[in-house]
Amino acid sequence: HLFYSLFFFSFQVALNVSLYYEAMCPDSMRFIATQLFPHYRDIANYIDLELVPYGKAIHNQKDGRWEFSCQHGPAECKGNMYQSCALSLNSGAEKDVDFVNCIMRKRNPSHLGNVEFCARRFQLDAEKLKSCANSEEGDRLLAANGDKTWELDPNISFVPTIVYDGVFDQTSQDQSLRDFVAVVCSKIVEAKPTVCDGRRLPKANHWGYY
Ligand SMILES: *[C@@H]1O[C@H](CO)[C@@H](O)[C@H](O)[C@H]1NC(C)=O
Repeated sequence: HLFYSLFFFSFQVALNVSLYYEAMCPDSMRFIATQLFPHYRDIANYIDLELVPYGKAIHNQKDGRWEFSCQHGPAECKGNMYQSCALSLNSGAEKDVDFVNCIMRKRNPSHLGNVEFCARRFQLDAEKLKSCANSEEGDRLLAANGDKTWELDPNISFVPTIVYDGVFDQTSQDQSLRDFVAVVCSKIVEAKPTVCDGRRLPKANHWGYY
C-alpha cells in the first residue's frame, strides 16, 4: 500500500500557479472575474494557487518602518494590504478565491467597507483582517509579497502576471490572459478534469487583452 501511495502521489503533483496582481488594476479585475474565478473549482484539485497582491509597486524600509508606493496611488497599497492580510488567515484556497473575486469586482477594492462586506460574505474573520491591516503585521505581509514580486525574472512588466511552476514564460502569460484554464490544462499531466475536454490553447498575441 505504501508503494502504491507513493506512486500515486508522484504523478499527482499539483501545478504551481502564481498570480501577481494589484487591487486597483482593471486588467487584474478582469482576469480574476473572467479567467480565474469562473472555472476555479474545476481545476482546484490540480493546482496549488498562490495569490500575490502587490503588482508594480516599490517598498523600502525607513527608520524601521515599511514605506510603499503603488502604481495606482496610496489607496492601492492599502487595498493590497487588506488582501495580503485576508490571504494570511488560512481560510483555504477556495474561500480565498471567492473573497478575492468578490473584492476585485467592487468599483473600489481598496474601500474598507467593501473589504468587510466580502470578508463577512465568505466567513473570513473581518476583525482579524482589520487589526492585521492596522498593524505592522500588514506591512510585513505586503512587504513579503513585494519581495516575491521583485524576485520575478524578468521584473514584472504587465499586471496581472501569471507564473507556472516558478518560471515566467511570455507565451504562457499571453495565452493565460485569453484562456487561463486552457493553459492550466496544457500543463497538467495524466488525468485532466473534464473542463479540459476539447479546450485548445489560444493564439498568443503579445498585446495583453484583445
Ligand atoms: C529589476 O529591477 C531592478 C530595479 O530597476 C533591477 O535592479 C534588477 O536588476 C531587475 N531585475 C531583473 C531580474 O531584471
